[in-house]
Parts: sequence; C-alpha cells; structure tokens
Amino acid sequence: MPKERPLRRGAALRLCLLSAALFLCLQLGMRRSWCPEGKAAAPAPAPAPERAAPSAPRPAAAAGRRRVTYVRSSRRGSAERGCCPPQPPGGRRGKAIRWHIDLQPWASPTPSLNYEALRFLKYISTSQISCEHMNLNSLTGHPEATKKPWSVCLDERFSLIHRIRNKQCRLYSLGLGNDDNQFEVNMANSGCEVHRFDPSIKSAHIQEGRHLWYHRLSIDWRDPNPAIAARKLHSNTKKLGTILNEFGHQKIDVLKADVESAEWKILENLILEDVVEQIGQLVFEVHIHWPGFEVSGNDSTVVRYWYSLLRELELKDFKLFHTYKDLSKPQMFLKKEAFNASSCYTLSWVNTRWK
Ligand SMILES: *[C@@H]1O[C@H](CO)[C@@H](O)[C@H](O)[C@H]1NC(C)=O
Ligand SMILES: *[C@@H]1O[C@H](CO)[C@@H](O)[C@H](O)[C@H]1NC(C)=O
Repeated sequence: MPKERPLRRGAALRLCLLSAALFLCLQLGMRRSWCPEGKAAAPAPAPAPERAAPSAPRPAAAAGRRRVTYVRSSRRGSAERGCCPPQPPGGRRGKAIRWHIDLQPWASPTPSLNYEALRFLKYISTSQISCEHMNLNSLTGHPEATKKPWSVCLDERFSLIHRIRNKQCRLYSLGLGNDDNQFEVNMANSGCEVHRFDPSIKSAHIQEGRHLWYHRLSIDWRDPNPAIAARKLHSNTKKLGTILNEFGHQKIDVLKADVESAEWKILENLILEDVVEQIGQLVFEVHIHWPGFEVSGNDSTVVRYWYSLLRELELKDFKLFHTYKDLSKPQMFLKKEAFNASSCYTLSWVNTRWK
C-alpha cells in the first residue's frame, strides 16, 4: 500500500506537465488562427500542407493535414491529436508559412484606378513567351474547333507534348457545370488522364471512357471547417492540395479552371501553399466584372491584388503564352464599362521550371 503513493504522485506530476504542455500548444494553435494580417476579408489559409515526400506513405500525410486543420479550428478535444504534429523526416519542412501574397507597389505615386487598370489590362493582354503549337485538335484528328480557346502549349521544348505521347499526362479541370467539355474529351482522347471536378454532377464519381473521370467535388481555397463538415454541409469542398494528397498525385500537367470568380482566391491558395510547383500549365478563365469571391477593398486595391497574384506566378516561372479576350461576354470592368475591357479573359501559362 505505501508503495502506491509515490507512484500516484508521479502520475499526477506527469499529468500536470502534460496539461501544461497541451495548454501551451493550444495557445500557439489559437494564436495562429487569429492572425488576420493583410487582407482582412481573406481567411487565413491553413498552414503549409504536410505534403508527402515522394516516398512517404500517403495516409500519414493525410492524417497530418487533418490534424493541423483541426487545431486551427477547434479548441475542444483536439489537444491530443492536434498538438504539435510530429515533423515528418525530409519533405518540405522549414519553409515559412505564408499567409498572404506580396503586394506589388502601386502603379502610380498616388493610388489610382486608372493606372492600376491600365497596368493590369496590359499585363493580361501581353504574352511573355511564344508558343507555336497550341491546337489540341491536330493531335486527336478532330478538326472541329473547341468553342473556347483553352490553349495548352504543345511545343517540343515543354514536357506536355512528350508526356501526352507517352500517355503520362494528367489534366485537372475545375468547373461549375453547364460548360462544354470538348477540351476535356480531347485531352482524354489523346491519352491524358482527365479529372473533372464539378459539384453539380449526380454521383460522387463517374467514369466516362477509359481516361475521363468526373468527381462531385468543388475546389476551394480552404478546407471546410470541421464543424461544417461534421454536419455534412459543403463537405464536398476541398483545397486542390488536399485532393492531390488524397488521390496520391504528385503532378498535374494541365490545370484548367473556369470557376466564375473563385479563381482569384484559388490561385492565391495554390501560390501560398506552393501547389503551383506541381503544375505544368495553367489555363484559367479570369473574371474582372467584380472583385471575385472574398476579395475586398476599393477598386484600385482589388486591381493591384489581381496584378500582384499574377506577378507571383511569374516569379515562380510561369510564363503567359496565350491570352484571349472574350468579346462575347459583357464588356465590363469592376461593374463599369471602362478601359475597353471584357469581363472575361482566358489566360494560359506554362511553368518553365517544370519537368
Ligand atoms: C484605396 O485603398 C487604399 C488602401 O486602403 C488607399 O491607399 C487608396 O488611397 C484608396 N484608393 C482610392 C482611389 O480611394
Ligand atoms: C477595344 O477592344 C477591341 C477588341 O480587343 C479592339 O479591337 C479595339 O481596337 C479596342 N478599342 C480601343 C479604342 O482601344
């Protein structure tokens, strides 16, 4: 009997230390999630994902990610799972978490919509690199033109054409129903593995032909709040990095997005989490008739933000090789008819660092 006392005291001490440690961790976790630097309306992006090292087993990575998300959004019952996730060996550790993109200086000494708009519109109308072969139809032997100029660069100096020939290529396509999928079908016919993410389809996964999959998922710039997910609301919404991890994909040869103004925040998320580095070419429809989902600030601030996002892409060696102004859409710029701009442009970039 007397022996039991020191034992108990030991256990009590350990419990005490453990609680103190947990408390500390929770504090740290909470401080992180309260960090509204930069754009006030922007949700703090999740900490840099625990991206699996090429050899690491995926489930572990997925679990790590879940843990991290959990700490950020819930204080109760999360301690044991959420606290200080172990650092995986190797991988992309040590990278500072980025919470917001770097804003470019204003286009003029005093902020003015006129100068911001001219700089931005010039930027999205100017190719930075030439691409000679952009016609996918020549590959598949289907001469009819696609309705929209979803252009990919098939020049020999970039890897896409080689990966198409070797049947190694992969297209992710983000959309919101109702647009034509000729581009996806063409890519699938040329041997690419095509994943179309569209929240409006009827079942969770549909396979059409040998290479074309539809997934009832929508891509967001944050993972759903666990509280919402638990109640099965919007639980089919995920970040692209999360989907890559869950599908076990390291690379996307082409990412196509037509997401009705969610593209700005999605692009920001891909840049902040370095997911763009896993992507070979981007084909985005960008919308400029309003700021876009969760983009805030006065007009000049919004345009400067758009411009800064694209400059970040350029810093990551994405070069614009095709730009298309859609004259069939309303010719609007931030709710006004101005600057001879269209509300909608389709832009294609190639990642010149990508192999
Ligand atoms: C817009 O907001 C920015 C930052 O808050 C400010 O510096 C700028 O003067 C404003 N621009 C205009 C045209 O009101
Ligand atoms: C306006 O845009 C159209 C289509 O891009 C172009 O043809 C036209 O020259 C532009 N007009 C002016 C005044 O810049």
